[in-house]
Amino acid sequence: MTGLESIPEGGLAVVVGASGGLGGAFVKALRDGGRFAEILAVSRSGPEALDVTDEARVARFAQEVAERDAPLRLVIDATGFLHDENRKPEKSWREIDAAHMAHSYAVNAIGPMLLMRDLLPLLPREGKAVFATLSAKVGSIGDNHLGGWYSYRAAKAALNQLVRTAGVELARRRAEAICIALHPGTVRTGLTGPFSKSGLDVQEPGEAAARLVAVIDGLVPADSGGFFDYRGERLPW
Ligand SMILES: NC(=O)c1ccc[n+]([C@@H]2O[C@H](COP(=O)([O-])OP(=O)(O)OC[C@H]3O[C@@H](n4cnc5c(N)ncnc54)[C@H](OP(=O)(O)O)[C@@H]3O)[C@@H](O)[C@H]2O)c1
Repeated sequence: MTGLESIPEGGLAVVVGASGGLGGAFVKALRDGGRFAEILAVSRSGPEALDVTDEARVARFAQEVAERDAPLRLVIDATGFLHDENRKPEKSWREIDAAHMAHSYAVNAIGPMLLMRDLLPLLPREGKAVFATLSAKVGSIGDNHLGGWYSYRAAKAALNQLVRTAGVELARRRAEAICIALHPGTVRTGLTGPFSKSGLDVQEPGEAAARLVAVIDGLVPADSGGFFDYRGERLPW
């Protein structure tokens, strides 16, 4: 597996949503890679809890990151919401519920935007640094032929637009820094568990994280603001 050799050694890596299937696999991959002086893994639960819908907490977290000795070289945002005990992805407009939609937007789009607002300014002015948020191909408007999953699709489409927009601003402020949305493919985690049929195209979290790490390693500033899958292919908006 690649060890992110394109990113200067000895920096700080942050994984948000580290309790999740993909977040946990990223933490392990980054630790195994040995490229970073420190890996900060944060989750919604636990003593250092970070809920991305808590704006003040996100700002405080960024302050904590800024106070670390090592420069911030990598942020992986592996948070996301598709379903819980009470809310399922909608099969029809008949199932639309305003509170469900608002929650999906809050976690899948606004939360990552708060992370970008507060963490992108901490990326170093020189040398490669990457902010990667996990989006989903179902957020692609051009690729939407199946319908359904209204709230999740729309929230991920919004996330893609936010990444694109932040990429434009980042290019003006940090020429070597990169901000991107990544589609991990179908991965066996709690998020997709009830919906993914088992088969050859369902990846284990470790496998998917390794592929995404390789994609991140290959990114150049011209890729910033883009939407890529786990093979490094650009996806349609
Ligand atoms: N698995 C797939 O096939 C697949 C496909 C396409 C895209 N993705 C995307 O990949 C990302 C990771 O998903 P996953 O498959 O690893 O799912 P997961 O195992 O359910 O992980 C989701 C993570 O998001 C966290 N989270 C949820 N709400 C949060 C909030 N308000 N504040 C902070 N953290 C919050 C969860 O924290 P708790 O542990 O506290 O709940 C958990 O750590 C998501 O963005 C998802 O949309 C996944």
